[in-house]
Amino acid sequence: MAKRNIISVLDMKDDMPELVDLAIRLKAERGHHGDPLKGKTLAMIFEKPSTRTRISFDVAISELGGHPLYIEASKMQMGHSETVEDTALVMSRFVHGIMYRAFDYKIMDRLGDNATIPVISGLDNLEHPCQALADMVTIKEKKGGFRGRKLVYLGDGNNVCNSLLYACAIMGMDMVACCPAVRMPNAEIMLNASRIADENGCRIIASHEPYEACKDADVLYTDTWISMGDDTPLETAVKIFHDYQINSDLLKVAKPDCIVMHCLPAHRGQEITAEVMDGPQSVVFDEAENRLHAQKAVLYTLLR
Ligand code: CP
Ligand code: NVA
Repeated sequence: MAKRNIISVLDMKDDMPELVDLAIRLKAERGHHGDPLKGKTLAMIFEKPSTRTRISFDVAISELGGHPLYIEASKMQMGHSETVEDTALVMSRFVHGIMYRAFDYKIMDRLGDNATIPVISGLDNLEHPCQALADMVTIKEKKGGFRGRKLVYLGDGNNVCNSLLYACAIMGMDMVACCPAVRMPNAEIMLNASRIADENGCRIIASHEPYEACKDADVLYTDTWISMGDDTPLETAVKIFHDYQINSDLLKVAKPDCIVMHCLPAHRGQEITAEVMDGPQSVVFDEAENRLHAQKAVLYTLLR
């Protein structure tokens, strides 16, 4: 079987619904999976900090019977005295899969193109595909499905927003990217996602009007106003994003059973108020847990 990368949500275009269902099935097995990945090693390389991605991939490969290998990118030869291409070829001789967290998606692509083993993105500046998969798992669990549902993403049109655009389009869910004009999602991804949505009978649109956008929403979603590697000062970010905060007034506009999501880490008082983040409609910690189950679905599918 040809090796498969997951670097963009588009790499799950043909089987995202199956991956969501597999994650839910694996979750029900509560860690007792019969070691399907026995003898497999997953290298997990990080250029940036991580709590959820690192721990959930580590536990996921371990509970599937495999072995995690954590590597700080700055301690490797790559980027100092060895090319990405050579690193990809060497690593392909040692391990069975690479999970990589990068500043620059171009490094991710070069790794993915040259490794003869699967390369899985643990986030880059363009996308966060495994987060989006876990988010679809959470929405399926909480809402039962995607058709006729509406997700409103508020704030920075960043990597998480870009991946959600693709994920909603693929799963058949309406999505509004409600972002300031100066921080819209990637234009090409927005266009591609809208095309996929058109083919799939749902709608992807942009808005700059939070109160209008959130009417009848089933899911409100936000992320940090300042992503890793973004040097925007906090005072500037507050000015740009102030009106896009998820707070109880905005939540009242959505459906009464609307859920609130955040990929975490969260900044209470900035993109979301403490009242909402810690309130009854927030599902953020279930969402974080689902990273583990989604990661298992990805590893089981790619490394088995
Ligand atoms: N949501 C997420 O990817 O969190 P980490 O940065 O902690 O991995
Ligand atoms: N957009 C955030 C996500 C962190 C999980 C970042 O890139 O820092």
